[in-house]
This record gives sequence, C-alpha cells and structure tokens, in this order.
Amino acid sequence: MQAKNPRDSRTILTDMVLPSETNPLNNLFGGELLARMDRAASIAARRHSRRITVTASVNHVAFNQSVPVGSVLTVDAAVSRAFRTSMEVYIDVWMEDRFTGEKSKANEAIYTFVAVDDTGRPTVVPPLQPETALEQERYEGALRRKQLSLVLAGKMDPHDATELKALFMD
Ligand SMILES: CC(C)(COP(=O)(O)OP(=O)(O)OC[C@H]1O[C@@H](n2cnc3c(N)ncnc32)[C@H](O)[C@@H]1OP(=O)(O)O)[C@@H](O)C(=O)NCCC(=O)NCCS
Repeated sequence: MQAKNPRDSRTILTDMVLPSETNPLNNLFGGELLARMDRAASIAARRHSRRITVTASVNHVAFNQSVPVGSVLTVDAAVSRAFRTSMEVYIDVWMEDRFTGEKSKANEAIYTFVAVDDTGRPTVVPPLQPETALEQERYEGALRRKQLSLVLAGKMDPHDATELKALFMD
C-alpha cells in the first residue's frame, strides 16, 4: 500500500457556537465539542484509509479554554500515525475572537480510529509518512500513546508496553 501524508487526510470544520450548544455559563458544552472533534477526526481517518472507520478510543482531551456562545470554532484534524488497522488522529481546535478575528488555540485532542470492512472486521490501512517537524513529533509519540491506551483498556499487558517502559527508564 502506498504511504500517505497527513495533508491527504487533513479535515477542517468551521462552525459557530449556538445558544443550544452551551452550558449554564454560556460557554460551549464539552460533549458538543467532543462530537465536533469526533466528526472531523472520523472524516480524516476515512480520507486516509478510504474505508469505514469507527472510533476505538479517545486518548487525550484538554479543555484549556472556555468557548463563549457566538464564537467561531475551527476543528482541524489529520491522521498523525497509521498502524496496521488503526490510525491516530490529532485534533487542534482554534477559536476566533468575535471582535478582533484573532485566533487562539482552544483545545487539543487525540482520537484512535479503526478501519473496518462491511462486516465490522478491522482491515489494513496505508502507512503514514510525516513531512513537517510537528508531524514527525506527533508520529513519534503515537506508539507510546497507543500502548498507553491499550494498557488502560486492558488490551495490553503493561510488561509488553516497550515504549512506556522506555519512557520511565530514561
Ligand atoms: C474498535 C474495534 C473495531 C476494535 O476491535 P478489536 O476486536 O479490538 O480488534 P483488534 O484487537 O484487531 O484491534 C484493531 C486495532 O485497534 C486497536 N485498538 C483496539 N482498541 C484500542 C484502544 N482502546 N486504543 C487504541 N487502539 C486500540 C488495536 O491495537 C488494533 O490496532 P492495529 O491493528 O493498528 O495494531 C471494536 O472494538 C469496535 O467495533 N468497537 C466499537 C466501535 C464503535 O462503535 N465506536 C463508536 C462508539 S460510540
């Protein structure tokens, strides 16, 4: 299978925050943001694999900044590493100031998707070739995050998590 670049899967969703999507403080409800990120990341995983993709895990979410009603939010997702049948998707969320138009980073998240066939069985995906320094950095950290996710899900024996062991030994 021919390798793809992160830009092949890059998916950008821009939308406004409506009153029905906010909490009692008039800031974006966390679950709404998770759904927007899941949607963008799912499209990115599909663009990389050209298969049906399902969310296998949400490995990391940081709600660093609240997002007020009326904000314009941009969810920027791209595959950061492909394994055999799974893909890590890195998501950056940017908020546009209503008055100045200035953009600031509101959130970051990392999701894992698995490509499946018509019967829901995991299926092989193309490898990923990072290009920029940031893509390379995210690519290198992805195996460690995969192992952590599998250990936490009870799907990997911690003794087999070589990348995690290396992290704590260094
Ligand atoms: C995701 C799913 C297909 C994985 O099935 P499975 O039987 O665990 O399949 P496998 O063990 O072969 O794993 C498939 C891949 O997923 C990865 N994976 C599975 N669980 C994972 C987790 N919690 N974190 C990270 N990766 C995971 C495996 O490492 C493997 O990756 P690789 O082939 O690239 O090495 C299956 O659990 C599923 O269909 N879950 C429901 C998905 C869904 O409905 N999502 C929406 C929720 S609302």
